[in-house]
Amino acid sequence: MRVAGNVRVPGDKSITHRVLLLAALARGSSRIRGALTSLDARSTARILRQLGATVSPLRGGAVAQVDGHGRLRRPDRILDCGNSGTTTRLTLGVLAGHDFAATLTGDRSLRRRPMRRVTTPLGAMGARFTEHNGDGLPLTIHGGPLEPLRYQLPVSSAQIKSALLLAGIAGNVEVSLREPQGCSRDHTERLLRAFGYDLTENDGWITSKPTGRIEPFTIDVPGDPSSAAFLVGAALLAESGSLRISGVGLNPTRTGFLEVLARMGGLVHIENLSDQFGEPVGDLVVQPASLGGTEVTAEEIPGLIDEIPLLAVVASRAAGITTFRQVGELRVKESDRLGLLTENLRAVGARAEVHGDDLLVEGGERPPAGAVRTAADHRLAMAFAVLGTVPGARVEIDDLACAAVSFPGFPETLSRLSAGGTW
Ligand code: S3P
Repeated sequence: MRVAGNVRVPGDKSITHRVLLLAALARGSSRIRGALTSLDARSTARILRQLGATVSPLRGGAVAQVDGHGRLRRPDRILDCGNSGTTTRLTLGVLAGHDFAATLTGDRSLRRRPMRRVTTPLGAMGARFTEHNGDGLPLTIHGGPLEPLRYQLPVSSAQIKSALLLAGIAGNVEVSLREPQGCSRDHTERLLRAFGYDLTENDGWITSKPTGRIEPFTIDVPGDPSSAAFLVGAALLAESGSLRISGVGLNPTRTGFLEVLARMGGLVHIENLSDQFGEPVGDLVVQPASLGGTEVTAEEIPGLIDEIPLLAVVASRAAGITTFRQVGELRVKESDRLGLLTENLRAVGARAEVHGDDLLVEGGERPPAGAVRTAADHRLAMAFAVLGTVPGARVEIDDLACAAVSFPGFPETLSRLSAGGTW
């Protein structure tokens, strides 16, 4: 394939969830330009409407408007978070500081994902929970007055961190927390600082004091680096050409995949750097490269957790072995990503093994061919679709429609990569 042109990716998923939630907590009208309109973003918008906020329909190209009332209201019905772990966990944090009960559920994938990682510390702050399915969903939260919290997270996770910081905001109490390894994405911290909250870092402890106030705001959401990663991968694996991906969020807690790709020989150039609401944004310029294996350390994993499927398929085309250390968290993502990545890499003829919590992928030159089972996991589907663009590939994916969870229009964007032009 020859790549060409200038492409944009949809708005950042993590930032979209957070600004929708914060706008619902503001008293008045907020405007969100470039909000993601994917299924996950719509799940957050839908449940915020049930919680009393007025949220305009999320449509591509339109500015989203949120009218918040300062506090959320008791919902009449169960809150369906769809496939979205971020919607669920961040909302649990906000609801912990609200004096009513609400029940959350989700699709088959989400109902099996662990929730005690947030309910345990939220419980220590004073929220109560009724579990209807052990560690998973459905789950009823009974919020109310909260106590301050000092807590060491069992795993590095921006969802847990954000749930606790948002509980501190909703409950008006101080929260201190520490992640065990590496630093997960810090969008919540950046946004809260922008609203005047006193967030400090000392010896790995992040402390948030309830000094700020969420006022209505207008924001531009940058393109999602996790979505851009798939196009970067396709361009690196192409035979010739050059691709520009414009307006991508380049928060250093999200760009670990670019460092790993550079070590593998795939140097991606950054141009037109600017700052949007405290988040760095720029263009990525990518050219095909011949790649070699590398070791991705445990400390790097939180900064590229969503890019591992893409990095693993790229590694299957790189000379030598690539090792991803301590990626056990992948077992509790939208699917058992660790198991399915390995199974699917093997299914298309690549060599992949799991040793304990480490993933090893050996690169090869034979065109990938075989059937891929995604279990409706959007990032697995997109990663293997990228692998399917290499010359001679015959990769059959059981479900590419699930890409709409995070990247509306992904199949069309990928198939136009070689057409050139701007879109
Ligand atoms: C997210 C955090 C990550 C990531 C998810 C989005 C967020 O999850 O995998 O896609 O927006 O906070 P964990 O915090 O569970 O690692």
